Amino acid sequence: MEVETWLLLATVAVLAWVYSRYRHSYWSYRGVPSPPTLPFLGHIHKSFFVNRTLWEYNQENYIAFYNASKCGLYEWFTPLLVIWDPELIKNVFVKDFNYFTDQRDFTGLKTGSKRDEMVLEMLSLKNGAEWKSLRAIMTPTFTSGKIKRMFSLVSDKADALVSFSMKQAAENSYVDMKNNFERFTMDTIASCAFGIECNSLIDKNAEFPRKAEIVFKISIQTMLKIALCKIMPRLFKLTGLSINPPETDFFIDVVKQTIADRETGKKRGDFLDLLLEARDQSDNLSSKLVMNDISMVAQCLLFIVGGYETTASLLAFSCFLLAKHEDQQQRLREELRGMVAEHGGITYQGIMEAKLLDACLQETLRLYPPAVILERACTKTYKLPDTDLTLKPGDLVQVPIWSIHHDPRHWPDPEVFIPDRFLPENKGNIQPFTHLPFGVGPRNCIAMRFALLEAKVALSKLLLEAELNAAPGHEEVALETANGLLRPKEGVILVLKQVKK
Ligand code: HEM
Repeated sequence: MEVETWLLLATVAVLAWVYSRYRHSYWSYRGVPSPPTLPFLGHIHKSFFVNRTLWEYNQENYIAFYNASKCGLYEWFTPLLVIWDPELIKNVFVKDFNYFTDQRDFTGLKTGSKRDEMVLEMLSLKNGAEWKSLRAIMTPTFTSGKIKRMFSLVSDKADALVSFSMKQAAENSYVDMKNNFERFTMDTIASCAFGIECNSLIDKNAEFPRKAEIVFKISIQTMLKIALCKIMPRLFKLTGLSINPPETDFFIDVVKQTIADRETGKKRGDFLDLLLEARDQSDNLSSKLVMNDISMVAQCLLFIVGGYETTASLLAFSCFLLAKHEDQQQRLREELRGMVAEHGGITYQGIMEAKLLDACLQETLRLYPPAVILERACTKTYKLPDTDLTLKPGDLVQVPIWSIHHDPRHWPDPEVFIPDRFLPENKGNIQPFTHLPFGVGPRNCIAMRFALLEAKVALSKLLLEAELNAAPGHEEVALETANGLLRPKEGVILVLKQVKK
C-alpha cells in the first residue's frame, strides 16, 4: 500500500477514535461516574456476559459507585443512567412518569416480515400514545374481580401439577420441580390466556411447549439478526429474513383461530374473552383501532412470553428456599392447613388472606427477582431533582433490582431467607421503592395479581401434599440469566415425600 493510503487510514482511525471519545464523554461532562469504556462499544460488550451474569456486572458498578448513587454507561453511543436511590426511583418511575413513559425503542427492528410486525405490537414494546391506549384497554382485564374468575382454571392446572409431580416422585428418587413448574405455567397461561389445552405436563412432546421453547428463546442467531438489522436495516430487508423464528407462525395461527371461534359466540371467561369484551365495550374509536386483530394476537403471545418463565422461576426458587428452611416450610404448611379448615378447601378468599404464604413469595422475589433490571427511556428533557443533571430524549434509565434487593442498607442479613420481613406487622419497616420485583409505577407488571395468585395456588396445593427436601448434591442453586431473566441454571432438584395427614 502507498504511504498516502496508510496516512489516510491512520487519520480516519484517529478521527473515529476522537469521535468515540467525544461521544463517551457524555457522562463525565455531566459529572456522573462511569466505568472504563471500549471505543465505539461503550459497555455493550459487558452484556454478552461470557463469564458473568447481568446482575453480577450491575453489582460491581453498584459497589464501585455506591456513594454517587448512580453511574453512567453507554450502549454503543446511547447514554444509559443507572440509578438506585429510592427517592430518585420514585421520581422517575412514578412522580415524573410523564417524562419516562417509554421503553427503549424497538421500531428499528421493522424488517418488513409479518411475523416481526406482529411481535412489535406487544404492549411491552409499544410507546407513547399507543402504549397508553393499549394499556388502558388491557388494565381492566387484570383487576381482582376478573382474576377471581380465573381461579378455577388455575386451580385445575395446579391439581394436575401436584398429581404429576407426586407420580414422578413415586417412580424416581428426585424430581426437577423447575421443569414441572415451567410446564404448569405454560398449561395455565395457555388455558387462561386463550383457552387452549396444551397438556405439556402430561405430554412431553406436545407441540405447544416445544414450539414455545424455540420462539421464546433468544438464541445467538436471533441476537446476530437483531445486530444486523440495526446496523444495516436496508440490507436486512432485502434478505427477506425475519428476526422471529418460523415457529412463531404456529402461535399466530392458533390465536387467530381461537379469536375466530370466539367471534362466533363461544365464551370461556379467559383473558381473550376479556380483551374482546374490553375492545367491544370501548366507545373510543382510537382504542378500537389500537386493538385490531394483529394486536390481539400479539397480546395473547405476550401473556405467554411474560408469564411463563417468570412465574415458573418464582415457584422453583420458593420451593428451593422452603426445602432448605424446613422450619419455615412447616410453619407455612400449618398456615395452609388452618386456611383449608377455615374455608373448607383452597379457595380464592383463603389464598388472599394467607399472610405467610404471601410473605414467603415476596421474600423469594426479593432474593431471586426474575427480572433483574428495570428500564425506561426519557421522552422529554428532564432535570433530575436536586442535581444539575439533565437527561435528554432517548437517554435510557436503568434500575438494578437485584443489587437493591441484596443491599444490607435496606435489608438486614440480605442473603438470609426471612419471610417475616413481609408480614403485615413488619412491612412498615421496608423502605419504599426497595422491593421492585414487578416494577413500579404506571408501567409496572400488568399481571402482578394474576402471577401471585397462580404461584400461591400451586405452592399451597404442593405443600399440602408433599414435604420438600433438597436432593443430595443439590443443596445449592446455580443461577443464570437467559432471555434477560434470572433462573435456576440446572433446575431445582427435590425429594418429594407424601406428607402425613
Ligand atoms: C412472577 C411473575 C412475574 C414477574 C416477576 C414479572 C415482572 C415484570 C416486570 C419487572 C415488568 C416490567 C415492569 C416495569 O418496567 O416497571 C413486567 C412487565 C409486564 N409483565 Fe410481568 N411479571 C410476572 C408475570 C407476568 C404474567 C403472568 C404476565 C401475563 C399474564 C405478565 C405480563 C407482563 C406485561 C404485559 C408487562 C408489560 C407492561 C407494560 O409495558 O405496560 N407478567 N413484568
